[in-house]
Amino acid sequence: MKKLFAVLGDPIEHSMSPIMHNDLFSFYQIDAHYLPFRVKGENLHDAVKGLKAIGAAGFNVTVPHKSKIIPLLDEVDELAASIGAVNTVVNEGGKLIGYNTDGPGFLKGLHAHVPSAVGQKILVIGAGGAARAIYFTLARENPQAIDIANRTLETALKLIEDCPYTNISRALSLAEANQKLAEYNLIIQTTTIGMSPKIAEQPLDLGNLSHKSMVCDIIYNPLETQFLREASIKGAKIQNGIDMFVYQGALAFEKWTGIFPDVERMRENVLQQLG
Ligand code: ATR
Repeated sequence: MKKLFAVLGDPIEHSMSPIMHNDLFSFYQIDAHYLPFRVKGENLHDAVKGLKAIGAAGFNVTVPHKSKIIPLLDEVDELAASIGAVNTVVNEGGKLIGYNTDGPGFLKGLHAHVPSAVGQKILVIGAGGAARAIYFTLARENPQAIDIANRTLETALKLIEDCPYTNISRALSLAEANQKLAEYNLIIQTTTIGMSPKIAEQPLDLGNLSHKSMVCDIIYNPLETQFLREASIKGAKIQNGIDMFVYQGALAFEKWTGIFPDVERMRENVLQQLG
C-alpha cells in the first residue's frame, strides 16, 4: 500500500519539501507520497491524531508547530527534547517518535567545508529557534569556543543556560560581536535579517572579519544575502542556507526509508524551485 508522508505548518504553501521528497520517492522507486497540510495551532492535536490513526509513515513539522508538537508524540529523542523542537516524526510500529534534523542538517552541510567542529572558535548570531537547534548541535561537537550574539542579550543568556552540552559560551551584544569578530573562525548567521524582501539589511557590518574565517548564513532566499556578499568580498569562505535545508531533508528521508539520499539531486531540485 502507498505510504503517506506529510508536512504540517502554517503557512505551508511555499514549502519546498513536498517536491523534494516526492522526487526522491520516485527516484528510489518507493511507493509513497508526501503532502503539505496547512494546520492551525488549535488543530495540531487533531491533525497529529488523524495522521497516526490513518497510519501515516512519517511527517515533517514546521513553523509554528515545532515545539507544540512535542507533548503530542509518544517519544522524542534526546537532542530534539533538549532543543525543545521537533521537525521530523517517524511512525515506528504505531508509535510517533520525534527528532530534530535541523541542527544535525546544518552540521552535515558544514562538514562539506569544515571537516570537524572540534577546536573551532564559533560565533552564532541570533538566539531564536534556528539558532537553538544549531547551537545545541554544535555544542556537542567540542568546539574551543561557541558564543552567541543577539540583539536581546537576555535571550542569548537563556539559550546558553538551557544548553546541556557546554558551559564555555559567552553572550554578546551585536556591537561586542562586531568588535571581537576576528577571534572566530566560524560565524553562523541565523537571524531573519537579510531574508527576502528585506535584502538590504545585515546584522553586523563585518568590519573586523578575518579573511581566514568561514561565514554561514542559514537564509537561502536570497541565495546570497548582503551579509554573505560582504563576507565574500572580505575574502572569507561563505555558505548559504541551501545545505542546511537539503541536509535536514536528507536526514529525515533517511529516518523514514533507511536510505541516505543523493543530496546533489536534492540541491538541484531546490535551486530549480527557487528559480
Ligand atoms: P527563527 O525561529 O527563524 O530562528 P525567531 O525565533 O523569531 O526565528 O528568532 C529570530 C532571531 O532573529 C532572534 O535572534 C532575533 O533577535 P531578538 O532575540 O533580539 O528578537 C533576531 N532578529 C530578528 N530581527 C532582527 C533585527 N531587525 N535586528 C536584530 N536581530 C533581529
